[in-house]
Amino acid sequence: MSRILVIGSNGQIGSELTAALASEHGSANVVAADVTPPALPQCTQFVSLDVLDNARLREIVVKHSITDIYLLAAVLSARGESAPLSTWTLNVNSLLNVLELAREKRVSRVFWPSSIAAFGPHSSLEIAPQWAIMDPTTIYGASKVAGERLCEYYFAKFGVDVRSIRYPGVVGYKAPPGGGTTDYAIAIFQAAKRGEPYHCFLDAHTTLPMIYMPDAVRATLELMKADPGRLRIRSSYNILGTSFSPAELTRSIRKRIPRFQVTYVPDFRQQIAQSWPRSVDDSQARADWGWEPRFDLEALVEDMIANVPLDWERSPPARAAS
Ligand code: SER
Repeated sequence: MSRILVIGSNGQIGSELTAALASEHGSANVVAADVTPPALPQCTQFVSLDVLDNARLREIVVKHSITDIYLLAAVLSARGESAPLSTWTLNVNSLLNVLELAREKRVSRVFWPSSIAAFGPHSSLEIAPQWAIMDPTTIYGASKVAGERLCEYYFAKFGVDVRSIRYPGVVGYKAPPGGGTTDYAIAIFQAAKRGEPYHCFLDAHTTLPMIYMPDAVRATLELMKADPGRLRIRSSYNILGTSFSPAELTRSIRKRIPRFQVTYVPDFRQQIAQSWPRSVDDSQARADWGWEPRFDLEALVEDMIANVPLDWERSPPARAAS
């Protein structure tokens, strides 16, 4: 039986993953951890944790007999640029703290997310291959490449069962994203639903790999359930949901909300986005653990329009509801 600790459980992915893990393994077997308690009650037990506090992390793992850790705490690409040192420290040292616990056999399995941000200008950006030149231009991307190397190292050297996915931009409606370059693809829906124009911080034709939250969560659960003998990648797997540009997303939203207007006012995030691939080759994930997305652009748009709150303050999302 798995006893699970989700670190970063208040975040965009963490909150939804916590709920999914609770329904799969039982609420009593999942412990949610973050620096502050959740805004709304969650279906699992909550513990406060700064993942850089190694003593506290160890205390929680022992006290709750944790077997599996999902480490979702991180500073994302755009926010990271204003605080490079603390971004590197959080993103890399948190992983080291968790991998060390696994090396000492205090936990059996680790999930840690990498990102399309691990790629860079020389990575074959039309369709980034599983094995590519990795020359990221952001501190977030650099921390993800370092993390991938650490995962592979701890697996090869110490047999640590660590598994990872390079998430594309993740689009969801239950919790706000925080400081990413792909956040436009959520904010745009809220403007459309409010009947307001949207000022997009990326250029109209900047295509990026994206994934809808239910696919991202399912991918994570499926990878963690996969037979370890079939996993040939211990750095991080490419996966793709769908790829689109702001202009293509706008066109799809307009099919449902015809008067919706978007203006393009690219800022520093445009440069970050341009250093990322337009799509990724996820054939290795398909071959090794049967990855297959279910949501294309139209299905994503349909579901987002139906469910996204008008804004996060006025109608807080039902975080991690079971
Ligand atoms: N969605 C993330 C970001 O924009 C990429 O991992 O930073």
